[in-house]
Amino acid sequence: MTEHTSTYGIIGYPLQHSLSPLMHNTAFKALGVDAVYKTFPLQEAELPSFFTHLKEKKSPVFGLNVTVPYKEKVLPFLDALSPFTIRVGAVNTIVIDEDRKLTGFNTDGPGFLTHLMEMGISTAGKRIAVLGAGGTTRAVLAALCLLPEKPAAIKIYNRTTAKARELVARLGEKIDTGLVEVVDQMDDLNVELADLLVNTTSVGLKEGDPCLVDENLLHANMLVYDVVYNPKETELLRRAKAKGARTSNGLGMLFYQGVLAFQHWAGVPLEADVKAKMRQSLEQERVI
Ligand code: ATR
Repeated sequence: MTEHTSTYGIIGYPLQHSLSPLMHNTAFKALGVDAVYKTFPLQEAELPSFFTHLKEKKSPVFGLNVTVPYKEKVLPFLDALSPFTIRVGAVNTIVIDEDRKLTGFNTDGPGFLTHLMEMGISTAGKRIAVLGAGGTTRAVLAALCLLPEKPAAIKIYNRTTAKARELVARLGEKIDTGLVEVVDQMDDLNVELADLLVNTTSVGLKEGDPCLVDENLLHANMLVYDVVYNPKETELLRRAKAKGARTSNGLGMLFYQGVLAFQHWAGVPLEADVKAKMRQSLEQERVI
């Protein structure tokens, strides 16, 4: 590192599971760019001073990712939002320009959809069940609602029901959430009838985390998608697989949101060979 090295990074807590540094440092190396991607594990109380420093002319930081639990909490610190981000109300990417102006983007939603497409999954006419009501949920739900391939129904359940209701109400101010139904009980998610179950909660990240869904409801005619990618197989995915369901962790979503984030920072598209190296780095590091 020199005084000319540009800094990028991720803010969130905890961050020891994050594979973003590996993916982005691989891209910087492949491009021969003098830049480094770091982790910034911040407590919530540290956010204001972090953003104050970020605005200073001498700051070396030109781009950030944002993860659990700050995807919504960073909004007040930003100067501008992309149109999709305004609709989603959650940010996972921040671009900082020469004048230290901060613009928020959401690449989680497009990243999720791109991965579904890569897997050959269409949402048209599907019954979708969503777990969670955090920042990732917002992105996934907004993307599902905005797709022209309309699902038959989208049900959402969160441990804190009020948060799910609030989330859908807020989203509903900006996009058509007519297909979305918030349910009060996990039982009412009708997982046994769902074609696609998406876990957008952070449950599964920590060792010993439970499976939120009764395994007897999981079945062979569904895709179970867990946004958690580390560990590579959460208890939910393990049980779903045992029931014959198709399963996916969030590694593909991580990759696509990362490519889109990088392109926002760079201002140009990434070449296929650089993207391939980023993906390879992720696939190889999935050790847990
Ligand atoms: P982010 O914004 O990055 O997605 P978040 O806002 O902290 O992160 O959201 C985490 C999600 O995981 C929430 O839906 C949370 O449920 P609550 O709204 O009830 O807090 C969910 N979650 C976390 N731990 C959970 C647990 N032990 N059981 C059930 N849900 C949990």
